[in-house]
Amino acid sequence: MPMQIRQLGPGFVGEVSGLDLTKPLPKEDIAAIHEGMDKYAVLIFHDQPLDDAQQLAFTQSLGPIELAIGVSLRKPEEQRLPNTFADVSNLDKNGEPFARDDRRRLYALGNQLWHSDSSFKVVPAKYSLLHARKVVSKGGNTEFADMRQAYDALDQETKDLCEALICEHSQMFSRAKHGFTEFAPEERERFKPVLQRLVRVHPSTGRKSLYLSSHAGRIVGWPEPEAKAFLMDLTEMATQREFTYAHKWRVGDLVIWDNRSTMHRARPFPHDQPRDVRRTTLMGDAPTVEQQAA
Ligand code: OGA
Ligand code: MN
Repeated sequence: MPMQIRQLGPGFVGEVSGLDLTKPLPKEDIAAIHEGMDKYAVLIFHDQPLDDAQQLAFTQSLGPIELAIGVSLRKPEEQRLPNTFADVSNLDKNGEPFARDDRRRLYALGNQLWHSDSSFKVVPAKYSLLHARKVVSKGGNTEFADMRQAYDALDQETKDLCEALICEHSQMFSRAKHGFTEFAPEERERFKPVLQRLVRVHPSTGRKSLYLSSHAGRIVGWPEPEAKAFLMDLTEMATQREFTYAHKWRVGDLVIWDNRSTMHRARPFPHDQPRDVRRTTLMGDAPTVEQQAA
C-alpha cells in the first residue's frame, strides 16, 4: 500500500499509513515524508514496533541527527540511553519511575510548558521524532500548536513589531517558570542564554511562524519584565484551542514534529507509572539570527 496522509484536527497534523518504519525506506517515501512535514508540520505513524537501532536508522534516513547533550540533569553514569537519544521518559537506569521529588523528574516537568525543542541551542533542532514504548493509563498526552497559523493571526502592527525582535533562550528561563531555580555553577555555565529570532521563515515553504518557546526569557533591548509579559501574552494567543492538537499515545506510535513551526508540551500523568518515550532529533541547519531579515 502506498503512503497516505489523512488530516487530523486543525489542519497541521497528518496521520500517515502505508509505511513500515522498521525497514529502510526507498527515497520516494523519504521525500514524501519531508513533503508531508512541510505541508502539515506534525505527522503521526501508528503501530511501528521500533527498537532503538530502527528508530535511529529511520531518523538518520531523514537527515543528520542532533545529539542530546546538556538537555537533562542525568549524569553520564545515570543515562539509560546513548546520547543519540533524548530520554524523555520518567525512568531511571533500572527502568523505575523517578520518585516524586527526584530533581531529575522535577526538571523534566519543564516539558509540560509549551516549547520548541532545543531552542536553547545556538542551532536549534529541526524535527523531533518521539516513539512510545510504554504509555500511562491516564493523562500523558502530547499537545502541539501551529506557530504558522498563530503568526498569520497577528494583526499587522504586532507582526511588524515581532519581525525584528531577537530573544534570549535558556533552560534556566523555562525552569524558572515552574519554580525550578537551583542550578550548580557548572549548570549555569551550560545553560547560558542563546539568541533566537522571534519570527522565523521556513526554508522550504517560505511561511513565517512565531518562534516561541518556554525557554525564551528576554528580548534584546527590552526591559526584562516587559519582555516576559509580552512573550507570555503571545504564547497565550498562539496556543489557543483552535491552533492546537492533542495526541493520545498508543504503544508503537511515532510522532514527528517540525520544531521550526510548532510548539508542543506534555500533559501531566501519574508519577508512579512508567512512561517510556524516546526521542531522536534532527539537527537544524543554521542559527536563526542568521536568517535574513525578511
Ligand atoms: C519531547 C517532549 C513531550 C512528551 O520529547 O521533546 O517535549 O509528551 N515530549 O513527552
Ligand atoms: Mn520537547
